[in-house]
Amino acid sequence: MKEKNIPEHVAIIMDGNGRWAKKRFLPRTFGHNEGAKNLKRILTHAKKLGVKYLTVYAFSTENWKRSKDEVETLMSLFKTYIKKEEKTFQENDVKFIVSGRRENVSKDLLDSIDYLSEKTKFNKGITLNIAFNYGGRSEIVDAINKIIDSGEKNITEKTFEKYLYNDIPDPELLIRTSGEIRISNFLLWQIAYSEIYVTDKLWPDFREKEFEEAIESFNKRERRFGGINV
Ligand code: IPE
Ligand code: IPE
Ligand code: MG
Repeated sequence: MKEKNIPEHVAIIMDGNGRWAKKRFLPRTFGHNEGAKNLKRILTHAKKLGVKYLTVYAFSTENWKRSKDEVETLMSLFKTYIKKEEKTFQENDVKFIVSGRRENVSKDLLDSIDYLSEKTKFNKGITLNIAFNYGGRSEIVDAINKIIDSGEKNITEKTFEKYLYNDIPDPELLIRTSGEIRISNFLLWQIAYSEIYVTDKLWPDFREKEFEEAIESFNKRERRFGGINV
C-alpha cells in the first residue's frame, strides 16, 4: 500500500452480519460468528499498517431490543472471543479495552473483560477498544454524572473528555459497513471531526483490501476543521 497517511485511530460500525447470513439462508448467529472472525483479520491488518487504536461497535445499548436468543448469542460470542484471543493479544502486543455500561452484562462476562483488560494493560502494539453495551448518549450522561460526583467545576472540552469511558484520541476515520448512512448512537462526542466512510460491503465481507480502500479514501479527503486550506 503506497498511502502514507495512516490514521492513528480508526472506528468501525461492524454492521451487516444478519444480512450476510440471510443471503446464505443461514441463521443470523452464523453471521455474527463470521463477523467475529473478520474482526481478527482486520485487527491484524490494522496493526500491520500502523493504526494505533481500533474501536469497534460490537453491541449497542439499543441491541437489547433483539430476540433473547440473538442477545444471548452475542454475549456468549464475546465471551468466547475473549477466551480465544488472550494468547494472540499477548503475542501481538494488543491492548484490550472496553467502552460501555456494565449494567445488565453478566458477572461472568464482566469478569472475563476485566481479566483480559488487566492482562493486556501494558501492551503497546495496538489498542483494541470494543464498544459493548455502548451508547454515545449514555457515555455523555455517564460522564456528566461522574463530573457531578467529582465536584469539579468550570468544565472545559478537555476536562470533559477525561470523564468519557476511555481516554484515547478521537478517531480520524469512521467506517460503517453494509450501507446504512447513520451513526446509530456511536461515539457521538468523539466523531465531531471524523471522516466518514460508508461501504455497501457487509461486515463479514469487509476484508483487508476493503480496509485499505477506506484508508485510501481517507487520504483523498481535505480535512479543514472549520478553517480554509490554501
Ligand atoms: C451488526 O450486524 C452486529 C450487531 C449489531 C450486533 P447486524 O446484526 O446489525 O446485521 P444486520 O444489520 O441485521 O444485517
Ligand atoms: C449498530 O448497528 C450497532 C452495531 C454494529 C453493534 P445496528 O444494526 O444495531 O444499527 P441500526 O439499528 O441499523 O441503526
Ligand atoms: Mg444492523
